[in-house]
Amino acid sequence: MGVLGSSSSSSLVVFLCLVLNIAVLCNGGTTSRYIRKLEEIEDMPLNSDVFKVPPGYNAPQQVHITQGDHEGSAVIVSWITPSKPGSNQVVYWSENSNKKKTAKGIVLTYKYYNYTSGYIHHCNISNLEFDTKYYYVVGSGKVARKFWFITPPKVGRDIPYTFGLIGDLGQTSASNSTLTHYENNPHNGKTVLYVGDLSYADKYPYYDNNRWDTWGRFVERNAAYQPWLFTVGNHDIDFNQAIGETIPFKPYTHRYHVPFKASGSTTPLWYSIKRASAYIIVLSSYSAVGRSTPQYYWLKAELEKVNRSETPWLIVFMHVPFYNSYVKHYMEGETMRVVYESWFVNHKVDVVFSGHAHAYERSERVSNTAYRITNGDCTPVKNQSAPVYITIGDGGNQEGIDKAMIEPQPDYSAFREPSFGHGIFDIKNRTHAHFSWHRNQDGYAKEADKKWFYNRVWHQVDEPSD
Ligand SMILES: [Fe+2]
Repeated sequence: MGVLGSSSSSSLVVFLCLVLNIAVLCNGGTTSRYIRKLEEIEDMPLNSDVFKVPPGYNAPQQVHITQGDHEGSAVIVSWITPSKPGSNQVVYWSENSNKKKTAKGIVLTYKYYNYTSGYIHHCNISNLEFDTKYYYVVGSGKVARKFWFITPPKVGRDIPYTFGLIGDLGQTSASNSTLTHYENNPHNGKTVLYVGDLSYADKYPYYDNNRWDTWGRFVERNAAYQPWLFTVGNHDIDFNQAIGETIPFKPYTHRYHVPFKASGSTTPLWYSIKRASAYIIVLSSYSAVGRSTPQYYWLKAELEKVNRSETPWLIVFMHVPFYNSYVKHYMEGETMRVVYESWFVNHKVDVVFSGHAHAYERSERVSNTAYRITNGDCTPVKNQSAPVYITIGDGGNQEGIDKAMIEPQPDYSAFREPSFGHGIFDIKNRTHAHFSWHRNQDGYAKEADKKWFYNRVWHQVDEPSD
């Protein structure tokens, strides 16, 4: 989708790509030397077509959906009406029956400094049939808007399913390119795991929340049709004491609802869902993680609940990576790693996705849990029970790419490249899944990095090394 209203839109394309794709081997894995010209990167202007307000007085906008329960038979539909509450109903029907049903939602508003939100609607539609296409309508009369979604298959251990990975997206022309590439990827992602940092509204004076609205309109073209599962990043905290805004995550928690109660969580900042053959645990990098904290207790109990006979694939995501060899944000994940890493290893978590570093990186299966304050034993070691850590904060926001890397490449780093793009985690069955990373400069089908995952519970053979 193009961007109107920007005479310099072509010059805003972040990378004029070239071309040399020389892999250089260092101490660790591969540092891709894909070379590009980096230009200034700015948010798309307010009159861009991707931000267009839908026509008609008080028409619903910023429509998005997410999973509404633990098993995948409910959907939360959210939208915003700008001028008055309007209808709080969602009318929906399955492709098979045409019998229309209605669900009622709630309406919220919030103020942030000198900004007042529109009317934010959240409606949980439950008792849906699995693996079924549903149509739904928000708004009424002349401004009724119709969308659709497909519910996941019933949870089961050999159910294939495809997740998309997007992080740190923001709202630049590069962000638009990332979303377009995801939409056109022939791997056909069905649900987005979004690893935090959504709108970057906090880059504006007074954290201008109008940029939360533009972001909501920008992603609607995908998020209204397939669930996006969110976690919080630092740009979603919106703590600004200078203007009296001291409630963390205020815009985020009003706008993006998640089914946290369904997993026994007491806060939307961490929760879990099952979807197809995956058990997905969402953590908060910006909440207390230490021993005896609420997140600690919840995660400890949560990991015990996972039944790998039912959901062979155990996925965790949070914003800040544990293993990241980019200079910016290097070792920021240590506070969480030292507390939770041994749990991830003991429970054979398959993969941990994070963002924060504006680049791509995939780790080896390593752990670093031997260290005690007296033994000095603090080197990551290869460990087939450990997760693969994938940093995918390369959505394309206005802060640009994080190019500076720790040199030489650490042993734990299997592949890294500072380019914008997205990922696909494609579960085939209980034993095999395929991950691919797609950079924005390439054709939609090209895999700039890839890895086969062997499920360590169901497949007792070590994965092939790169
Ligand atoms: Fe971040």
